[in-house]
Amino acid sequence: MEKIVILTGAGISAESGLATFRDEGGLWAAHRIEDVATPEAFERDPDLVHRFYNARRTQAARVAPNAAHRALARLQERHGGEVVLVTQNVDALHEAAGSRAVMHMHGTLAGALCARCEARWPAPLVMSTQDACPVCGAKATRPDIVWFGEMPHGMEAIWTHLEEADVFAAIGTSGNVYPAAAFAQHAGRAGAHTIELNLEASYNTRDFAETRLGRASQVVPEWVGAVLGD
Ligand code: APR
Repeated sequence: MEKIVILTGAGISAESGLATFRDEGGLWAAHRIEDVATPEAFERDPDLVHRFYNARRTQAARVAPNAAHRALARLQERHGGEVVLVTQNVDALHEAAGSRAVMHMHGTLAGALCARCEARWPAPLVMSTQDACPVCGAKATRPDIVWFGEMPHGMEAIWTHLEEADVFAAIGTSGNVYPAAAFAQHAGRAGAHTIELNLEASYNTRDFAETRLGRASQVVPEWVGAVLGD
């Protein structure tokens, strides 16, 4: 049975009510990346960075998965071959829809990290510079999110999954940020059929053999139904 590797981005969570990054009114329209999503920003103004992620954590706790998240969970459940789900998203909507073993390459809002000793623990809803690390006691706790300039998680395994994929699908991502924007080319070169499911053609649309445009809550269940043959 075919091995399917899937990459999701903010567009799959848009219809659940979470802002994307680069759409009209998206997160980067309201905040400069260099003010809230870099290690230098955290050094310079940790309170501002905590406020930005506290707002996103609080919002993410209020929303529910949509038909696209549920369709991917159904695909994992019903497809005979391996289904690997990699996400750039830091929300927990794939898990809430029933997906398992989700690879969060950019970290998660649910995680906290000590900038001093690198201990990890479940993040409280509201984090602050006054929090002490439960392991080393340093007041250096940060969101366990991969910021610009930092290495995404699980890249070794992800490159191997892409080389083994028979099908690679990118869903709800604009193809602006590397290394995720290189996944389609990497999988295609290794022989995978590549498909993008997105509201509009992504920045790297030329890397895909197939494109299905539309809202994720429509195009993803349709695509999963075609794969499962039901
Ligand atoms: N259904 C499907 N696609 C949608 C929908 C929707 N309802 N709404 C928006 N989209 C598409 C947009 O057209 C866009 O192509 O989702 C994509 C969202 O792109 P971005 O906002 O750039 O989000 P993403 O690609 O996930 O960003 C990647 O950049 O800022 C960093 O670390 C951050 O993980 C993020 C990374």
